[in-house]
This record gives sequence, structure tokens and C-alpha cells, in this order.
Amino acid sequence: MKTKLLKADQINQAVNLLKDGEIVALPTETVYGLAADALNDHAIAKIFQAKNRPANHPLILHTESYDQINDWAINISEDAKKLAKHFWPGPLTMILQKNNRVSSLITGGLDTVGLRVPDHPVALALIKKLGNGIVAPSANAHKKTSPTKPEHVLKTLDGKIAAIIDGGTCSVGIESTIIDMTKPIPVIVRPGAITAKMIEAVINKTVECPLKHSQKVSGNMEIHYQPDKPLLILSLDAIEKKLATERSVAIMHYSEIVHHKDATYYKMPKNKNEYARVLYQTLYTIDATHVDKIFVEIPPTFAEWSDINDRLSKASWK
Ligand code: TXA
Ligand code: MG
Repeated sequence: MKTKLLKADQINQAVNLLKDGEIVALPTETVYGLAADALNDHAIAKIFQAKNRPANHPLILHTESYDQINDWAINISEDAKKLAKHFWPGPLTMILQKNNRVSSLITGGLDTVGLRVPDHPVALALIKKLGNGIVAPSANAHKKTSPTKPEHVLKTLDGKIAAIIDGGTCSVGIESTIIDMTKPIPVIVRPGAITAKMIEAVINKTVECPLKHSQKVSGNMEIHYQPDKPLLILSLDAIEKKLATERSVAIMHYSEIVHHKDATYYKMPKNKNEYARVLYQTLYTIDATHVDKIFVEIPPTFAEWSDINDRLSKASWK
């Protein structure tokens, strides 16, 4: 299959492909997603095939606005409604009890569904024109780094999907926060740009943010988001020591450090949101160079950085 590269004003072509049961990569504010019509099981199956994703990894269902929440979910708590009204459109996915329109292919057999309204004009226009929700995992081969530009999508999915809509670079840069709202105390199962603190301020109660959990989410897998090159998270001292013997390395750092002439340095932002915005892009850039390894300076360990630490630890070599 030849993957078509569509411009942001060619949404109608993408909608027609989706109506024909094809799968199309599209920009969201977090990362590029691989979309299928949420009411077409045949198309949804193509997502799992193109990504090589295990069938028991549920997909997030994206809707156009808060008004569609009742089209897909039932028994929605007052707290969930508050969060949706406050953060949608935006990088927050809520796990809710599903209704019987939601295919078990989407949920991997679970009785819950992950719902979110993406904050991107292209994604929203496409969902509106299609008239149904879309399911969209990140548009990358299973376990690999999520894409924040169309060329990242092509790296692992070229020839496997009908089209990509070019919406430029994603502004958030890492995947949405996922919160399970079916539990008596809401549980953050994947950290993201919307932090526990921001959520707690809206619902006026404490949420759980366990490091390890038993949910079926990407966050549960030991290996995920991996670049092709081995990635190691190290202190600056450990990086210095390794440079005595290792030369062909890329170093992602945010502190000021002395440069060794053989290594390649990538200065990362000290601001967490800016770090998130360029994280995956930097990994894709380094993967395209000739270095053997990636050393990443341990990021700050404050709660605010839990999303960055989560993604990097899963991307790292075990
Ligand atoms: O920012 C995002 O969320 C992006 C963009 C494209 O919207 N999407 C994304 O999808 O990151 P994906 O499939 O790469 O990661 C979604 C995670 C999966 O690991 C899945 O297991 C979890 O959400 N998930 C979806 N539905 C769930 C459910 N009902 N219960 C528990 N986890 C669920
Ligand atoms: Mg993913």
C-alpha cells in the first residue's frame, strides 16, 4: 500500500478513507494518532495489524466534545464530568464504564473505555466530519517511540496505513494523562501533562498515582517508547566515567556540562513542558545518526516530572 501524505486542508480525503474502512494517521496535541472509525470493527482490526499491537491493549476513543460522553460511557461520576468539562479538549484520557456501542475490539474485552477529546483543529474537524468517534493509539509500531511529526510516523508505518495528515509538530509532545474514574479513588495510570495536582484542584480530592499498577496500559509494560539505539539513564558522574571508554554516544542533558570532542550533545530544556515537547523528537533525531548509544542525564525527580521519568525509564535499556 502506498501511504498518501495529506495536507491539513485535505481532511475530506482522510474522512473518505476512514468511511471506506481505512486507517489514517493524524495530528493531536499530544502525539500523532493512528485513527479508525470507532464503529467499524474491520478498520479497528487493521490498527492492531499495522502496529503489531497485542489484541488485549485497549485503544483510546476520541470524541469531538464533552457532549458525546454519553454516546460511549455510562455511570459517569460527577467528578468525571467536572474533569471533562475542565480539561477537554486536552491531554486527559478518562477510563469510564463503556456502553454497548463500544466494540470489545476497542477495549480488549474490558468493560471500560478510555475517552478523550483531543485539542487539535485537524483531529476535531475530522471527527466532526466523520460523525462518529475515532479510536487512535499513537501512530508507531508497538513498543517504539511515539511520533510527534509526520516523518516519525513514516519511519515505522510507511506502506502499512492509507494516509497521514500533516499537522506539523505536536505541541505537548508526550501522550495524554490517563486517569481511571471507575475506582472510588481515581487512579492515574499514565502520568502526562495534566498532573495529579491539577486534577486534585478540580475535584477537590486526592488521587492515587501508583508507580506500578495492574491496569492494562502501556505504562504497565516494562519496555515501551523505545528508540532503536540503547538508551541509558545516568548521573552526570556516571556519564563522565563511561566516556573514558565509550566514544560513539549521544548525550541528552539539561545541566551545563563539559563537552568531550567525540560525543554528540543535545541540550534539553530545563522546563518540564518544554522538555516533554522535544523528548521524542530528540530520540528520533539521534536514531537517525551514527552513534551507538544514548546517555540521558537523570531528569529531576519532582512529581511534576513523573511523566518524563515514566517514559524514559520504559524507553531505557534493561
Ligand atoms: O495522547 C494520547 O493518549 C495518544 C493520542 C493519539 O491521543 N494516544 C495514545 O494511545 O497514547 P496508546 O494506544 O498509544 O496508549 C493508550 C493507552 C494504552 O496503553 C491502553 O492500554 C490504555 O491507554 N487504555 C485504553 N483504554 C483503556 C481501558 N479501558 N482501561 C485501561 N487502559 C486503557
Ligand atoms: Mg502508544
